[in-house]
Amino acid sequence: MEEIAPSIARYLDALVPERTGDMVIMEDYAKAHGFPIIGPSAGYFCYLMTRVMGARKVFELGSGYGYSTAWFARGVHENGGGVVHHTVWDSNLSNMARLHLKNMGYENIVVYHIGEAVETLRNTDDTFDIVFNDIDKSAYPDSLPVIKSKLKKGGMLIVDNILWHGRILDPSERSRDTEAIRVMIDMVRNDPEWIYSIVPLRDGLLLAYKQ
Ligand SMILES: C[S@@+](CC[C@H](N)C(=O)[O-])C[C@H]1O[C@@H](n2cnc3c(N)ncnc32)[C@H](O)[C@@H]1O
Repeated sequence: MEEIAPSIARYLDALVPERTGDMVIMEDYAKAHGFPIIGPSAGYFCYLMTRVMGARKVFELGSGYGYSTAWFARGVHENGGGVVHHTVWDSNLSNMARLHLKNMGYENIVVYHIGEAVETLRNTDDTFDIVFNDIDKSAYPDSLPVIKSKLKKGGMLIVDNILWHGRILDPSERSRDTEAIRVMIDMVRNDPEWIYSIVPLRDGLLLAYKQ
C-alpha cells in the first residue's frame, strides 16, 4: 500500500538537488538491498529544517548506515559546526556510516553510538535542537518522554514513517507497530507543549515543536 501516489513521490524526489559521491552510493545501496532510508525528499527536508533552525546539536535514533545522518551533518556543518549523534544497535551499520560520513568530511561532527537508541539518548548528558526518531515503530510511545526531556525548549522533534505506508489510515489495521504510531501521535496531540504537523513526504514525517 502506497501512502502517497508513486508519481508524486517520484516528482518530489526529482526536485531535490542532485547528489554526488557517497550520497549516491548510499541511495544506490538502499535500492539494491531494500534498506529503508528516508530517501531524497524527506532527507532534503531534514536538511532544510536543520538550516532554518540554525541547529548545532542533533540526536538521531535509528541511524542505519548514515544516510539521514548525512543530511543533518550537512546542515550542522553549514550552520557553523556542532554535533550529530548517530545511534544504531548494529556495529556493521555503524562502521558503514563511519566510512561514508568520513568520506563526506563529517568526521568532526558525527558521534557514533552502538546500542539501543532510547537508552543511549537517556544516558546522554546534553539537550538538542533537533531529535530525529526512526527506530522500531513499536518503541515510539516509550521513546517520546525521553526525547521530550532531551529536546531544548524551541527544539524540533522529527519522526519518520508516521503514515506507515498508509496502514495508519485503515481502522481495521491493528498491528503492534501501527497501534504504537497511533499512540505516539495521540501523545503529541494531547500535550499542549507540542505544536505539530504531519508532512506527507514519502512515508510521512511528524514535526513536533517543543514550545
Ligand atoms: C529505518 S532504519 C534507519 C534509516 C536511517 N534513519 C536513514 O534514513 O538513513 C532504522 C535502523 O535503526 C535500527 N534500530 C531500530 N530500532 C532501534 C533501536 N531501538 N535502537 C537502535 N537501533 C535501532 C534498525 O536496526 C535499522 O538499522
